[in-house]
This record gives sequence, structure tokens and C-alpha cells, in this order.
Amino acid sequence: MTKKHYFIETWGCQMNEHDTEKMAGILSEMGYEPTSEVDQADVYLLNTCTIREKAEEKVFSRLGVLKKVKEQRDGDMLIGVAGCVAQQNGGHIFDRAPYVDLVLGTQALKKLPDMIDGIHGHQGRQVDTHKDPKNHLFPASLPKRSSSLRGRVTIMEGCDNYCTYCIVPFTRGRERSRPWQDIRDEVARLADSGYKEIELLGQNVNSYFSSVNFAYLLRALNDISGIEVIRYVSPHPKDFDREVIEAIRDCPKVATNIHLPAQSGNSRILKRMGREYTRELYLDKVAMIREVLDGVPFSLTSDFIVGFPGEKEHEFWDTVTLLDEVGYDRIFSFSYSERPGTGAVKHGDPVPLKEKQYRLKILQQHQAEVQKELMDARVGKAANILVDTVKPGDRYPIAGRTRDNILVHVESEIGNPERFYGQPVNVDIVDTGLHTLRGKLTDHQVKHLAEQVPVEIATA
Ligand code: SAH
Ligand code: SF4
Ligand code: F3S
Repeated sequence: MTKKHYFIETWGCQMNEHDTEKMAGILSEMGYEPTSEVDQADVYLLNTCTIREKAEEKVFSRLGVLKKVKEQRDGDMLIGVAGCVAQQNGGHIFDRAPYVDLVLGTQALKKLPDMIDGIHGHQGRQVDTHKDPKNHLFPASLPKRSSSLRGRVTIMEGCDNYCTYCIVPFTRGRERSRPWQDIRDEVARLADSGYKEIELLGQNVNSYFSSVNFAYLLRALNDISGIEVIRYVSPHPKDFDREVIEAIRDCPKVATNIHLPAQSGNSRILKRMGREYTRELYLDKVAMIREVLDGVPFSLTSDFIVGFPGEKEHEFWDTVTLLDEVGYDRIFSFSYSERPGTGAVKHGDPVPLKEKQYRLKILQQHQAEVQKELMDARVGKAANILVDTVKPGDRYPIAGRTRDNILVHVESEIGNPERFYGQPVNVDIVDTGLHTLRGKLTDHQVKHLAEQVPVEIATA
């Protein structure tokens, strides 16, 4: 019998990437194999994002291309839409794209086999956008993981914050946390299978609570031997309390990149966004973090939205000055995009597109100046990275991220760079670009490599 194949295309955040790993696991259990050829796929899934309008539009233009592939196969191809666009639009997707066979909501992944069987059993198109509060409870063995080094682990799903611009609470549902023992067991299994880095996932990861809180969870996972680095996305500033920051300080494996998404530097806009802090409270939080992490190298990053409805020019400039006041190592900035059903829709008072684009450019240019200075200040310092990229023969044969999440390309003439893969190594930073650093192995590291004895890892 010829093998059946699947292809999953993924947009959006790390949560979506991990959902893709879960769907790949489900399809493998059903006997499907992955293919990298679009026209070889018997099942083609688009795992989608709807955070901004552009992301949603991309899905429909991609579907237009897949329609043609399906026609070339005389209709013998099952097309499914999964992820946040599926959850948001449900069966309405069929109105715009009638050649789609299934719509799989974000909480319905476990239904995929029944839905595929239903289509093959001539039961017609399938849609499932029901809410399943237990959807985050998957067997740890299920995901078909895309990396053998970095393992993603869901710790919570959903969001109860309802920031007024954001569609995520509608597409991912109410907050729910996974039992901490399940998380610990999954991480221990990953460590046993050779994983070195884990990435804890959730829409609001530091509001995790399931008999223990996020700080406790970090401390428990830090004790698991074999794991070198623990990262997490996405946190909310309001849930970075002193206890969490102290856990980050005390746990040498936990990443010291503090992502503190401000969204705006103006208190009136923050209130309209429903962010639950003012500029002043946000700055107090930054000060608390600096105090607790005194002596620990860490980076600060943030997300910003410009042109939120009603944002006056001087209010936008409060966001620009926040960049100077805080000194972010990196920011992710977006112009506001109206999302259907969100609280901000009723604010009206849109900022014209041209003005939004102008503000975004100013913000990004300003950040580039701040960032350059901060990156320059890293030159001459030592760092420890976990090697996740190896390119034999390249001038920079290895690369990896610092504990505070800056990518370092390492110049080295040492042979067999493959042996570094998954290993922590000590480097001296010798040069910098705007986003990445360049380094070389420390003399100490080279000497220990030559003598083949384990090197003691610096905590920097
Ligand atoms: N849970 C995360 C957010 C995920 S969305 C958090 O709270 O930080 C990632 C970023 O996309 C947000 O931080 C915000 O800056 C941006 N974003 C969300 N909705 C948006 C919208 N409607 N228009 C523009 N940017 C948006
Ligand atoms: Fe969206 Fe706000 Fe929840 Fe983040 S905290 S996912 S921005 S509603
Ligand atoms: Fe996008 Fe959904 Fe993630 S809207 S950012 S894929 S939670």
C-alpha cells in the first residue's frame, strides 16, 4: 500500500509551532508521513495566526494557491485550516474558500483523526471550534518535535487579560494551567532523550498557577539534570513579581532575557489598552528587576503598538522616550491593526495609516540608536552560549544564544565543529552588529578542548 503524506505550514507564535508538532504527532500515529513537496501531500494543513489583519489575509491568499494544487490532483487532497484563524472564523472559512475540507479550532487538535476519517467516509466538510478546557493535556510522548536540542513544553494556555487590541483571548480561550508534576515529568523525559534546552509555552506564561506558581515551577525545573537552558514565552509585565525575578536570579539555567511588553509609554493609552499598569508602575517594575538582578547579566526586551485608536502625537512620543528611559536590548514593534470583536473597536478615532507607518519608522529608528550603544557595550566581555547551529567550513562554524538570548556567531579554526552541537561553550565577544554578536572561544575553552577535559562553565 502506498504511504499517505502530510504537509503542515505554520504561521504565528511558538504556541502555534508547538501545536504543529502535536498535529504532526497525531498524523504520524495515523500512519501518515511528512513530505516537503506541496503536491505530494494527501493532507495539507495551514496552522494560522490572526494577531493582525495582514496575518489573516496571508492565509486566504495561500489558500488560493493550494486550491490550484488540489485541482491538479483532481481534488484528491484534503485541505485543512487550523490555528487562530480557524478558531475565529469557524465554518465561515468555507464561504470564502469552499474547497477547504476541514476547520480545526485551537482546542480541537485531538479531534483531527475523527475529522479526517469523517471526510474519507463521505460525511462532508468538518468543522470543530468547540472549547475544550482540557485541550492542553496531551500525552508528553505525542509531539513530533522539529528539534532534537530545544524542546517546547506547554505549561498553560489561554489568556484572561483581554487587552482591548488583542484577539488572543478569543482564539485561545480562558486561562488554564497544566499540573506542574506533568510539566516536570515531560521535561525530565526530554532531558533523558538528550534535549538541552526547553521552552515553556503559554499565552501568559508567568500567570501560571496549578497548586504552585511560576516561580516554584522554574525552581523545580532548574533541578532537572541534563537541561542546560530554560526559556519561556510570553510573559506579562504584571505577573513579573519579585518572587519570579528572584527565581530567575537563583536558577542558573533560567534565561535572563526579561521580556517586558510595555505596548505604550503613555498612561492614558495604557489604560485604554487595558494593560493594568501606568508608565510609572512599569518603570517601578524595571527598577525592581534591576535591583534583584544586580550583578547578573540580563537583557530587557519589549513589544510596542503605535497608532492605537486615539493616540495623540505627544502620547506617541511618550513611547519614544520610554526607550531612552529603559534602554531595551531589543523591541518588537507593530502598527495597530483592528481585530474584530475586540474592545478597541468601539473606541473609534483611528489613527490614519500613513501616520501609523510614520510613527513606527520613528520608533524603530530611535530604538536602533539605543540598541547599538547597548550592543557595543558587550564587546570585550565574556559570555556562555549553548551551541545550536553548526556550519563546517564557515568562517563562523558555530553559533548559539547567550543566557540573555543574544545570538553569537563564533569565529574558530578548530576542527570538527559538529562536536560543539548542544554543548555550552565560553566565548569572548569581539564585535557586534545591531542584532547579533561575534565572538571567539576563550583561551581557557580552547585549552580544555585540546586536553579533552570538561570545562567549568562561567555563569556570565
Ligand atoms: N501574550 C503576549 C502577546 C502575544 S501577541 C503578551 O501579552 O505579550 C504579540 C504582540 O503582538 C503583542 O505584544 C502586541 O505588541 C502585538 N499585537 C497584539 N495585537 C495587536 C494588534 N491588534 N495590532 C498590532 N499589534 C498587536
Ligand atoms: Fe493579548 Fe493581552 Fe493576553 Fe497578551 S496579555 S495575549 S496582549 S490579551
Ligand atoms: Fe497568532 Fe494565535 Fe499565536 S493569533 S500570535 S498564533 S496565539
